[in-house]
Amino acid sequence: MNNEDLFKKVVSHCKEYGFVFPSSEIYDGLSAVYDYGQNGVELRNNIRQYWWKAMTQLQSNILGLDAAIFMHPKTWKASGHIDGFSDPMIDNKDSKKRYRADVLLEEHQEKLSAKAHKEVEKARARFGDSFDEAMYRTTNTRVVEYLNAIAHIDNTLKEGLETGNLGMIKALIEELGIVCPVSGTKNWTDVRQFNLMYSTNMSAVESGEENLYLRPETAQGIFVNFINVQKSGRTKIPFGIAQTGKVFRNEIVARQFIMRMKEFEQMELQFFCKPGSELEWYAYWKEQRLKWHLALGTEKNSYRYHDHVKLAHYANAAVDIEFNFPFGFKEVEGIHSRTDFDLSKHEEFSGKKLRYFDPETNESYIPYVVETSIGLDRMFLLTLCAAYQEEAVDGGEVRTVLKLHPALAPVKAAILPLVKKDGLPEMAEKIYNDLRFDFKLYIEDKDSIGKRYRRMDAIGTPFCITIDHDSIANEDVTIRYRDTMEQRRVKVSELRDILFKETGMSALLQKLACI
Ligand code: GAP
Repeated sequence: MNNEDLFKKVVSHCKEYGFVFPSSEIYDGLSAVYDYGQNGVELRNNIRQYWWKAMTQLQSNILGLDAAIFMHPKTWKASGHIDGFSDPMIDNKDSKKRYRADVLLEEHQEKLSAKAHKEVEKARARFGDSFDEAMYRTTNTRVVEYLNAIAHIDNTLKEGLETGNLGMIKALIEELGIVCPVSGTKNWTDVRQFNLMYSTNMSAVESGEENLYLRPETAQGIFVNFINVQKSGRTKIPFGIAQTGKVFRNEIVARQFIMRMKEFEQMELQFFCKPGSELEWYAYWKEQRLKWHLALGTEKNSYRYHDHVKLAHYANAAVDIEFNFPFGFKEVEGIHSRTDFDLSKHEEFSGKKLRYFDPETNESYIPYVVETSIGLDRMFLLTLCAAYQEEAVDGGEVRTVLKLHPALAPVKAAILPLVKKDGLPEMAEKIYNDLRFDFKLYIEDKDSIGKRYRRMDAIGTPFCITIDHDSIANEDVTIRYRDTMEQRRVKVSELRDILFKETGMSALLQKLACI
């Protein structure tokens, strides 16, 4: 299966098996907005819970917070979102379609990079073992041309955005001959900045004074509560505040399913530390966050770090954790050393002191902050892409199986009476009723056992528990393992322990603590 096929299959699997639906689909949907179905909501809750427990339960110096989505409008002035949280947009006059100018340029760069890669691979095949790729990349005229063109785009885009000279960016799009994918023409408008925040108003009457914004990140709720949490939690620096919640961005370019949405959820940590110690903590969190991903069993080489060369003016280090999605390596999480930028700005705009008094040194200072920020929906997509498999099984049949980590699986076990008679459904019901207080289960007596196994494989249920005629006499059942399809006989009295050990969040957290 090639990557394009894999992605299409994951998207249609999501709909068919109740993971993700287009929002308000009966009205033809809403661009870049999605709803989570019966299995999606469970998987998403489990991912969130894994993050939450890894932060607030495994780390004694991290406290949780749930700030409101609405915040005082000054928050966004202080954070720089009103003036700076925008994308450069360009419209094609013929198709009337709007694009992000930087995305058009990035796509052009990807094409150049693919061409360079093709040249390198051709040369590798020609020269065999003696091929020196690094040397080839710096000496082959065609490859050098492509790489220079990529660098030229980077530099011009950076200069245009930093100096506000959007004319430069339009000129670059024209110079490169980029056409509208819909009309095929180069009939472009000027490039304009377009703020990504949604606004609404607090009062019933639109006065213009009480313009509110739907938060575009959860981080600011943490900054404005820094003193509240620190004082009420009697915490000492270094410590962190963790928060998960919905955020909203008017993303014009909706792409790749739930990868880029207008309403999505973030899981963010702001870690407050002493100025001067921030780069040590940055290194710690960079490593720690990758461990969190790897504890789920995802292949290590599916991940890579992408260190930022161009840093935002307030950051002194930044890295993305990227995952190899079917459409290439893309950011799933960002780790930023944000200095004291946010707290200083809120101090300036609110007039309130946002300082920490260090009892050991008798000093008062604005802490530095290391942020880790991951999109829950992007993590959800990553999880499904990594888990989706089609496997040939006996008889030439192909089974679709989601090899999800058991702690993330929407349903932990299916209770399946082999037939609908002879007291088997009653015994299944009894087991279900006994275990439902601890686990999300599924019980079904329709269809052949083979069909029921396949349906459970398709939603990633780690265990199928089958009740047959011997079960009644022996008080035992067959337990089938999703990944290996192995079956073994166990006593009914053992089920709770098996499910706790194999599907509980604690085993996953223990693994995380050990790697
Ligand atoms: N407080 C920092 C911050 O918001 P960001 O890079 O804009 O940083 C963090 O967002 C994470 O949120 C990203 O790494 C990504 O996983 C997720 N994310 C960002 N925009 C998104 C969108 N439109 N749809 C889905 N997830 C998104």
